[in-house]
Amino acid sequence: MTNKAARNLFIFGSLFFFVIFLGLTVDTMNQIDGRAPEITKDVDAGKMVWQKYDCIGCHTILGNGSYFAPDMTKIVEQKPAGYLKQFLMDPRGVNPKAAMPKLGISSQEADQLLAFLTWISKVDTNGWPPKPILAAAASVAGQPQSRGQQVYQSQGCSACHSIKGIGGTSGPDLTKVGANGKDAEWHVKHLKDPHSVNPKSAMPAYGGVPEADLKELAAYLVTLK
Ligand code: HEC
Ligand code: HEC
Repeated sequence: MTNKAARNLFIFGSLFFFVIFLGLTVDTMNQIDGRAPEITKDVDAGKMVWQKYDCIGCHTILGNGSYFAPDMTKIVEQKPAGYLKQFLMDPRGVNPKAAMPKLGISSQEADQLLAFLTWISKVDTNGWPPKPILAAAASVAGQPQSRGQQVYQSQGCSACHSIKGIGGTSGPDLTKVGANGKDAEWHVKHLKDPHSVNPKSAMPAYGGVPEADLKELAAYLVTLK
């Protein structure tokens, strides 16, 4: 290659990639505003509360923080707001085994935190954090065998409960729930309105689920021994 050819290759090569770089930059800048919803006053206040209690000292959010406690980026999609509010204000009142301390969060602060966490959940993170590879298996060990098991799976009970080690730990372990003397009727009542049998319950109500499904689910629960 002559000197001239080498110089041209350098100049036009650089120019070519510089133009691509500019194009991609403009494209990114155009997309950024659409990637997060508007920040309201409550979202702003919630961020202050988040900092006040140093939540990030234990939790991660958008990939930042400590690994002592679960990631909070999509928590409002995983658990209903009513449950989360009760948990934030008194973790061990909801789950006696909770490791999260009672931080003294007021009702207003809890609402603001939830506004902030809802905003965070809507930030377009290109699918981050990834769903656990075993997410499908996490609902019921193996394929659902009965209608009751299917309802358990489709209602997402495993977000909070575990059976034989599979599922969440926010609610009591249900592996042996059928051995505690409560019959199917009690379970239907509890599922429809947990407050009716446990005034302090933080479990969401499943009154909107068809009665027939709740009966199948209850029938399944009493078999767990
Ligand atoms: C000392 C560590 C610690 C601090 C500080 C802390 N958490 Fe937690 N948090 C935990 C742990 C551990 C869990 C997992 C459940 C458990 O064992 O308590 C948890 C669970 C949660 C959950 C989910 C509950 C569930 O059932 O899925 C939410 C929501 C939450 N924390 C929010 C917060 C917010 C908001 C703050 C700050 C105001 C905060 N946490 C501060 C340790 C902490
Ligand atoms: C957001 C978390 C959450 C979800 C989702 C959830 N639960 Fe619960 N569940 C709890 C909590 C907290 C308790 C403890 C308070 C109570 O007994 O009501 C509980 C209690 C229970 C109990 C009583 C256990 C015992 O030993 O007394 C049963 C049974 C139960 N849940 C079944 C279910 C079923 C079935 C589903 C799905 C339709 C479900 N739960 C969904 C949080 C949850």
